[in-house]
Amino acid sequence: MESLRGKIVFITGASSGIGQATARAFAQQGARLLLCARRQEKLTAFAAELDAAEDVFTFRLDVRDRTAVEETLANLPEEWKAMDILVNNAGLSRGLNKLYEDDPQNWEEMLDTNVKGLLYVTRAIVPGMVERGRGHVINLGSTAGNQTYAKGTVYCASKAAEKVISEGLKLDLMGTPVRVTTVDPGMVETAFSEVRFHGNKDKAAKVYENLTPLEPEDVADAIVWAATRPPRVNIHSILLTSIDQANSNVVHRRVAS
Ligand SMILES: NC(=O)c1ccc[n+]([C@@H]2O[C@H](COP(=O)([O-])OP(=O)(O)OC[C@H]3O[C@@H](n4cnc5c(N)ncnc54)[C@H](OP(=O)(O)O)[C@@H]3O)[C@@H](O)[C@H]2O)c1
Repeated sequence: MESLRGKIVFITGASSGIGQATARAFAQQGARLLLCARRQEKLTAFAAELDAAEDVFTFRLDVRDRTAVEETLANLPEEWKAMDILVNNAGLSRGLNKLYEDDPQNWEEMLDTNVKGLLYVTRAIVPGMVERGRGHVINLGSTAGNQTYAKGTVYCASKAAEKVISEGLKLDLMGTPVRVTTVDPGMVETAFSEVRFHGNKDKAAKVYENLTPLEPEDVADAIVWAATRPPRVNIHSILLTSIDQANSNVVHRRVAS
């Protein structure tokens, strides 16, 4: 297992869910954390909780804003610039509607965040990795990128795009030691469904009713595992679901007694 001690890990979308669990998992391995999201107050509270203030740097960033991504990442403090690992985690789903009835605003948010945001951050960080001769890009995909589900077309399309972008980036990085991994979870119980349903907690709770979903820590574990393989190994993809899920469309719900 490769040591992560002192490595700089940049995680987008670290104010919640999988991003936070991943930050915790890397912190436990002695990594230094660069964390961003739109809600700075959540990042500040989370960093305090991590109790390793000198090894954590948080900043507000909306990955949809290309200029902000370019300027903020170019102007990070010198001691934080040489990133070893980028976890492109910031993402969301909006709505669960038939494509031909959906609000295009939902599409803009998903595509701007999950696809264009990931591209902007990748474009800003990877040249430095190539120049330094080390680096690892870990993108958050989904079972949704591997199999489409009804009423989720645009979210699925955004994660299918993430899968293709991960493959293409790996191709373009051939001849360099920079690694690329996509980690594709099934249902994980986070704020994800609440965000999808615009804050409707009851609707969100129904998604996980009578089944065991993955926990964010399970995904963090897969990410850290990929990051700690020997430098000669590139883990291309990890597809993981809970025991109650087979793919995007098949879940097992226990009958309530
Ligand atoms: N939960 C699941 O079932 C599941 C399954 C497969 C894949 N995923 C993927 O896993 C990733 C994390 O999701 P999660 O489940 O942990 O959901 P979550 O708890 O809602 O966390 C999403 C994170 O993304 C950040 N984010 C959203 N829009 C952003 C933007 N424009 N700029 C910067 N940060 C932004 C949010 O922070 P702010 O709101 O503070 O900006 C938050 O920290 C996403 O890419 C998601 O698609 C989730």
